[in-house]
Amino acid sequence: MPYQDLRAFLTALKSAGELVEIERPIALKYDIGKALAKASSVQGPALMFNQTGTEFPLVAGAFGNRRLALLAFEATEQTIHEKVLNGIDNPIGPVDFEGTPPCQDVVLTGDEIDVTKLPVPTYSPKDGGPYITAGIVVSENPETGTPDIGNYRFQVFGPKELGLFSAPNHRFGKNIAHATEMGKELHAALVIGVDPMTMFSCQVQSSDKTNDWFVAGGLRGAPVELARTVSNGLKVPAHAEIVIEFTVDTKNQKMEGPLGEYTGYYTPASPKPIARITAITHRKGAIFQGLLTGKPITENHVLKQIPFETSILRQLQGLFPTISDLSINSSGGVQVYIVIAMKPRYEGEARQAILATMASNLHPKWVIVVDPDVDIRNPAEVEWAQSFRVKPTEDVFIVNRTAAGPLDPSTDGGFSSSVGVDATKPFGVEFPEVSEVPGWRDFDLPEINK
Ligand SMILES: Cc1cc2nc3c(=O)[nH]c(=O)nc-3n(C[C@H](O)[C@H](O)[C@H](O)COP(=O)(O)O)c2cc1C
Repeated sequence: MPYQDLRAFLTALKSAGELVEIERPIALKYDIGKALAKASSVQGPALMFNQTGTEFPLVAGAFGNRRLALLAFEATEQTIHEKVLNGIDNPIGPVDFEGTPPCQDVVLTGDEIDVTKLPVPTYSPKDGGPYITAGIVVSENPETGTPDIGNYRFQVFGPKELGLFSAPNHRFGKNIAHATEMGKELHAALVIGVDPMTMFSCQVQSSDKTNDWFVAGGLRGAPVELARTVSNGLKVPAHAEIVIEFTVDTKNQKMEGPLGEYTGYYTPASPKPIARITAITHRKGAIFQGLLTGKPITENHVLKQIPFETSILRQLQGLFPTISDLSINSSGGVQVYIVIAMKPRYEGEARQAILATMASNLHPKWVIVVDPDVDIRNPAEVEWAQSFRVKPTEDVFIVNRTAAGPLDPSTDGGFSSSVGVDATKPFGVEFPEVSEVPGWRDFDLPEINK
């Protein structure tokens, strides 16, 4: 059975020695950020802060490194990609929760709404204020009603107001733009503290027509139980810790930011839409979830890597079945630097695969294709392929004015350019044999294994 909720996962982390509880009081302003940066520097355990100066404890770093991500997926390095691909290939629809859902143990509406009562950290002195960074947004296509879930950052502006940022190429941003075009209000919910597979499913790349609850169910191997919100008719995970229901106000924008982001740079403040809170509901003894984002590698990158790699691999394999593996490096923010292993079936096919990858919603700036004998997760091997299998004038090309990630500080407005490198051996001609001493892998040399 999958973890039913965040609590079940935290219990598993605790019994694996991967959750440390901190009982002394901790300042929400900066100290949580410092503690997370420190824990992350040693690939440390998740941290639970029990005294936050509010009525709620705060857990952060729950998916802070690869080891914890594998625990969340209940997989090993050997099984992870197959397990996720199996989930993507076998979606499972959600079911309705019967009765009053746990996420509505406490219901706050009208004058009771006050988001500043939650333990929302200000991670770094240069951040524009307290940020909710680990929430998932539930919104719907205003025309078709198709639900979308995704992770988005929210700055606390006041008791009933949050600032929000969605890139225009992400579905929440598209739903906001679509609703504005139709002259409709967009209702949404910011859900904090969900089961691990629902959290990771937010990053699975799928078409805009996909009902994301099916993806979450596929990864879980069991349906997500949903409950209707109290103020705006959406459906949210019944076992979530906290649900902030809101309406998006695009007419009255306010300065949001800066925030240290996944690129490793602060994004400057700029006017953004306001989330006007219509209700807050939570479980009894709700646990708030925090997450540090910033210079790679942070929890933000860990959340993206496995779902991005597997779902982009599946998309590309539909066109190029001889693609055997795909790696999206953390150093490139798990976005702009993609390496593909492929055995081209005809001359020029590697280049076709590069162009298709550039067209993905990640908007990569570097796409490198190598032969399957190269270990794409070992930068030295990829550099070796680029060094000795590439004729730069023929195999390296630049596509101008490709759409850019809006937070990339090196880009010019909405556009960038993308580099493709075909580092596969020349097609259909003899190429020298790789020089390796045969049999070295199995050679018994106990003297160096001491
Ligand atoms: C922790 C975290 C925070 C994120 N914050 C934002 C954000 O504030 N705005 C945004 O546009 N994308 C953000 N993203 C990226 C999107 O959630 C992600 O790329 C998602 O796949 C986009 O959703 P879509 O596939 O439905 O378009 C964040 C990702 C993570 C893991």
